[in-house]
Amino acid sequence: MRVAGRLAAVQPSASASVSAMAKEFAGVGRSIIDLGMGEPDFATPGHIVDAAHAAAIAGQTKYPPTQGTMALRAAVADKFERENGLAALPNQVIVSTGAKQVLFGALMATLEPGDEVLLIAPHFDSYRSITNLLGGVPVVIATRPEDGFRLSSEALEAAITARTRWLILNHPSNPAGAMYSEDQLRDLGEVLMRYPDVMVLSDEIYEHIVFDDRAFTSFAAACPDLMDRTLTVNGVSKAYAMTGWRIGYAAGPAELIEAMTTVQSQATSGASSISQAAALAALTGPQDSVTEFCTAFERRRDLVVHAVDQIKGLSLSPPGGAFYALMECRDLIGRRTPEGVTLIDDVGVAMFLLESVGVALVPGSAYAAPSFVRISTASADSVLAEAMERIASAIAQLS
Ligand SMILES: Cc1ncc(COP(=O)(O)O)c(C=O)c1O
Repeated sequence: MRVAGRLAAVQPSASASVSAMAKEFAGVGRSIIDLGMGEPDFATPGHIVDAAHAAAIAGQTKYPPTQGTMALRAAVADKFERENGLAALPNQVIVSTGAKQVLFGALMATLEPGDEVLLIAPHFDSYRSITNLLGGVPVVIATRPEDGFRLSSEALEAAITARTRWLILNHPSNPAGAMYSEDQLRDLGEVLMRYPDVMVLSDEIYEHIVFDDRAFTSFAAACPDLMDRTLTVNGVSKAYAMTGWRIGYAAGPAELIEAMTTVQSQATSGASSISQAAALAALTGPQDSVTEFCTAFERRRDLVVHAVDQIKGLSLSPPGGAFYALMECRDLIGRRTPEGVTLIDDVGVAMFLLESVGVALVPGSAYAAPSFVRISTASADSVLAEAMERIASAIAQLS
């Protein structure tokens, strides 16, 4: 079979590939701890599941409107107003099959071949693959751990060209947990004010998972003058442990939302009606579980930070949010395993940890961060503690 050429620059999801490999190892009887996948280990809260059940019983089983049900779009608009200080009308809101489809729709609706999309490394791998798939050009801007992996206004300005169409901002970020204060967002906004053709996609899907009493500020709230060219992306996957329900949403300029709705109408139509009812309950119901999940993720972040402190060869700048830890493994590269294999890069380090002690991590190169490996902290504390012990014992065997 002949596969379309456009797929050449598209990588399968890095975390899904690692998890598939972990399953293969587990299938042959190995004891595997899979810390690859980016999904909360908690169950979806009961009242959300109940709402889905009630919707199915009540007959909400027909094609929903492509843009999303009016009830959910109104709830999303309320959420943006209440939690983020953003004013959005329901016609400026779209509901999609996961935030990933929102990203896809936004880029599909706007990119011409050769248009540049600015990505801040380390970045969620789908930004690059979707851009490539649609004929755009990902332009990756490097950041440094000592700057909290944040984009500076100077680096932003230096990366903008006449072809720049989007800046994709993600905070708290996957995989580094980078966070921006209101002032830092404003600094970026000041640069963007000088480039009226550049749009901002602010992916805020981890907004509820922030640590150390930090306040989360939405990009469009910090930079209201850029509201008419900002798409604020969010979803229920991470905040409400609803990855499998596949509901993401966004607010942005009505013209963009309309174009994205056109794309969606020929791709998936409206997102699952039952899942939309569940998302409605998530956004409008009790929020206790959101806080509970965040407390658990912060405790696990501390556990991993503490463990990495004890392991010579790994380092970690503590993530400010999200549920990942991006561990620097530069000092392990060039070292030899007991079998005599030299670790040549982050992929080699990840493979060594999987093969020697059965811990599955994602190589940082998947996120434009070679010499790092990503650990997901979305597992029980005891599992994480055991994984960190196994990692320490594996590293102790390197010469
Ligand atoms: C930064 C970021 N954005 C978007 C998504 C996609 O989320 P969803 O499950 O809503 O498609 C993910 C999932 O890992 C993510 O890490």
